[in-house]
Amino acid sequence: MKFFLDTANIAEIEEAASWGAVSGVTTNPTLYAREGGKLADFHAHIVRICEIVDGPVSAETVSLKRDEIVAEGVELAALHEHVVVKVPTMPEGLAATRELFERGIKVNMTLCFTVPQALLSARAGAAYISPFIGRFDDISEDGLEHLGNTVAAINNYDFGHDVEIIAASVRHPGHVVGAALLGADIATVPFKILQQCIKHPLTDRGLESFLADWEKVKNS
Ligand code: G3P
Repeated sequence: MKFFLDTANIAEIEEAASWGAVSGVTTNPTLYAREGGKLADFHAHIVRICEIVDGPVSAETVSLKRDEIVAEGVELAALHEHVVVKVPTMPEGLAATRELFERGIKVNMTLCFTVPQALLSARAGAAYISPFIGRFDDISEDGLEHLGNTVAAINNYDFGHDVEIIAASVRHPGHVVGAALLGADIATVPFKILQQCIKHPLTDRGLESFLADWEKVKNS
């Protein structure tokens, strides 16, 4: 499973990219707004992210009509070769995805919650599909169970093009473990969760004792 970073924060992306284990970035309007992002700076911000990360960078469209989504997508895709156009799962989004697919532009279909939504997204030509886990948990449903159903359904078929499942709306490392065991291709995680994923108290305790013992070696 690959790790993407789910953030629009440049410092977080730079730090995580320096660890050498992050394969891409996903952003959305909420994440950009959280950084105090201005409309006029949006494209430059996406380009900046693309320059940091050597992999796909999802930039989301905000139009609701197919032609406008396509126009937005074409503009976003022209910014940098790393850009993947993120399109919400809805009828107009499907139509736009088909059009973008035919133009050779990669789409990440977002806000995907059900198996039929995922199958339709794949049929429309989405290169990535983003089932949300945490938002199911928020309404007392099992997000990982939904993710597992989506992974299994998508893996049942050949869509004639590559389709990767991005486990999204990841809220804790347990979601990352679940996504990996269920066979998601990618987990997109906030920076804080990436940090939690690399940390373990037994690792810290082990390192502490190794270093303490090395002091004894040095002083012998
Ligand atoms: O990038 C989309 C998704 O990961 C959002 O997560 O935490 O807002 O449900 P969340």
